[in-house]
Amino acid sequence: MAGGGRQRSGGRRAPLAALLLLLLLLALVAWPAGGLDNGLARTPPMGWLHWERFLCQTDCAQEPRNCISEQLFMQMADLMASDGWRDVGYQYLCIDDCWMAPTRDKQGRLQPDPDRFPSGISKLADYVHSKGLKLGIYADAGNETCAGFPGSYGYYELDADTFAGWGVDLVKFDGCNVGTLELLAEGYKNMSWALNKTGRSIVYSCEWPLYQRPLQKPNYTEIKQYCNYWRNYFDITDAWTSVKNILDWTSSHQDSIVDIAGPGGWNDPDMLVIGDFGLSCDQQVTQMALWAMMAAPLLMSNDLRRISPRAKALLQNKEVIAINQDPLGKQGYRITKDGNFELWERPLSGGAFAIAVLNRQDFGGPQMFAFSTAFLGSGLACNPTCSIQQILPTSRDLGLHSWVSFLKVAVNPTGTVLLKTVVIEEKLVINNGSSHSPDPL
Ligand code: GAL
Repeated sequence: MAGGGRQRSGGRRAPLAALLLLLLLLALVAWPAGGLDNGLARTPPMGWLHWERFLCQTDCAQEPRNCISEQLFMQMADLMASDGWRDVGYQYLCIDDCWMAPTRDKQGRLQPDPDRFPSGISKLADYVHSKGLKLGIYADAGNETCAGFPGSYGYYELDADTFAGWGVDLVKFDGCNVGTLELLAEGYKNMSWALNKTGRSIVYSCEWPLYQRPLQKPNYTEIKQYCNYWRNYFDITDAWTSVKNILDWTSSHQDSIVDIAGPGGWNDPDMLVIGDFGLSCDQQVTQMALWAMMAAPLLMSNDLRRISPRAKALLQNKEVIAINQDPLGKQGYRITKDGNFELWERPLSGGAFAIAVLNRQDFGGPQMFAFSTAFLGSGLACNPTCSIQQILPTSRDLGLHSWVSFLKVAVNPTGTVLLKTVVIEEKLVINNGSSHSPDPL
């Protein structure tokens, strides 16, 4: 009897289950492709973003060279194409806040400031595209941008359509002046859907977790469904303390942010300030090395018209860029902190690893750090043997090592030594206990 009863009710459940399955399938089909599914940012985006260096300078009469204007972006576009930036991967030329006119036009559309962008964004996009580059633009989920220009709240579709119509390729969406956490989430999701609906390939950069975190734990699985990369921590400034704070925040939250990063969605520790005023040569090496370790978007904020050959060579270092852009797309993490030293690793494709040794001591001379290759890649990076290449501060071959080799590197104060291990299957000549002298910078 009981069995018969189960059978009968099971019989009623069958159409219900089929209906639920159908609904689920429909939901999956109807689910708009978010950041992760838009096919973009399969490796961390690279380019230039005006904010840290040029901020909100709108006075072109006083500051004609440095104000936020089409001229500034056209000059940067020229240099990105002529000075090798584009060719090593810096592709997105991005406008940040303060490009807009103070009000929307009669149709409610965002418009650029007419004095500073007299030709319009569409013309600027054409110019940027003619240089083989892509154009990024900035907007905000709330009522106003952080600098007080018109926000996109209530205008998500119109703004997405306007950007797509202009030929924009990336949107940085800020989260200032949003009333509640619900509106914040809705704003980020709605803009993602709206961008997707335009049919244009537009990389979507978010600051959702940064604004959410003080009140609520971010759900990174959800964020990655909507965004191609996202800021977690405060704005970078042109200072070593700022770089250190970002690294400390990242390593202390690595358990919750590292695994989610991957092709299509990246943690964004903010712009590169290499080539500016605040970081020493060693600190610039540290920023470049650690941003490569963190699989960070590489968005420079500097003046390409005035950049030292040394900063340029560092930013254009192909071996470091190859680590940043590694197709496996795994973010690196800190394995240990030993006194003033931090040891980081990043798994790369083909069983290789990037290794960074950072010396946090900010006085004295170069310090030696010794470590066993058995620590690296949970013992696999160098098993049974590997070749090790030093990439920063200078490129050199450190030879072959076994899985129990000890490696000693000298690291300048606040500097980083960046290495790459490549595993070799056969047992080969072993370079045990090798020691390497400091690199002059
Ligand atoms: C901040 C944002 C910065 C910059 C600025 C513009 O909130 O984090 O990266 O975009 O707004 O006002």
